[in-house]
Amino acid sequence: MKTVFSGLKPSGDMTIGNYLGAMKYWPAHQGIARTIFFVPNAHAITVRQDPAELRKRTYDLIAWLLTVGLDPKQSIILVQSKVSAHAELCWILDNYVTMGELGRMTEYKDKSQKLGPTGQLVGLFNYPVLMAADILLYSADEVPVGEDQRQHLELARTIAERFNRLYGETFTLPKATVPKFGARIMSLDNPSKKMSKSDHPDSFIMLAETADSIRKKFKRAVTDSDNTIVYDKTAKPAVSNLLDIYAGFSEEEISDIEKRYKGKGYGDFKSELAELVVEKLTSLQSEFNTIRADEAKLDAVINDGSAKAAKIANEKLDEAKDKIGLL
Ligand code: AMP
Ligand code: TRP
Repeated sequence: MKTVFSGLKPSGDMTIGNYLGAMKYWPAHQGIARTIFFVPNAHAITVRQDPAELRKRTYDLIAWLLTVGLDPKQSIILVQSKVSAHAELCWILDNYVTMGELGRMTEYKDKSQKLGPTGQLVGLFNYPVLMAADILLYSADEVPVGEDQRQHLELARTIAERFNRLYGETFTLPKATVPKFGARIMSLDNPSKKMSKSDHPDSFIMLAETADSIRKKFKRAVTDSDNTIVYDKTAKPAVSNLLDIYAGFSEEEISDIEKRYKGKGYGDFKSELAELVVEKLTSLQSEFNTIRADEAKLDAVINDGSAKAAKIANEKLDEAKDKIGLL
């Protein structure tokens, strides 16, 4: 049976980009594969976090994972900081990757440029190695993520291959699986940029966004010059992005949506898109609120999942230690 593994950082409020590009596809793997999902909270501290806020967001995320349909009976759901093998394997793997390889990571280059010298922490640089450790500990075959994480997955594979070549078969080579649509939901005010919670509030829609705010944001969303609803990423990036969002929430083919809007203008399309998103998010939000209210139950999910995960992770860590001569 294949292993499917992925996670979402608790570094900000979840956007519809995180949902349509990643989370939404995870529950469908349950029952077919061994499924393991986690909250990489140790990854979040590569930029300064308020401790209370980080704790809250970790619970929020666990609650969102349950809201979208992950079932603790079918999937292992864990929090990274509860399984120390992640940090330990990271240190080992640090010795099988070069500064040059890490320096080429686009996410590091972007973030370190934005943050400047005082933000260029060793942890930020080392982030992809911890991510490789996360993945390799569980022998993941498939890692469903958005397009932006593909490079990190390739690095994890390179590290695994290198280790296996030196010491014999130890790690499974992981593969990124990126959704056909929605892998890169773009900003509502600039379709050349990825939708990100660290940008201007008008550019993104949170999963927790209120109905009024969703309507306002879609009304303000930029469109392209002519008034036709046609999917063309190059000539019409803004409308194509709105169509990606539409298809992601309605589960329809883009071509069917285009047909329905033939002869109609942006106004109709945007207001109907807003209503669709309001309807979907309102129902997800009400489920989220119920799940989030029971923190004791969330603790039970976290503790139980992390204990199960630790067993798998420690076994792989011991195997790696043994191969390289660490007692
Ligand atoms: P992050 O918010 O950077 O921790 O990303 C969590 C997951 O959501 C990763 O799999 C990302 O690839 C995915 N993701 C983040 N932003 C977007 C976006 N705008 N469009 C599609 N996927 C995204
Ligand atoms: N870097 C990922 C992101 O920003 C989060 C992450 C950390 C992750 N470790 C992982 C995703 C392992 C998949 C597998 O989205």
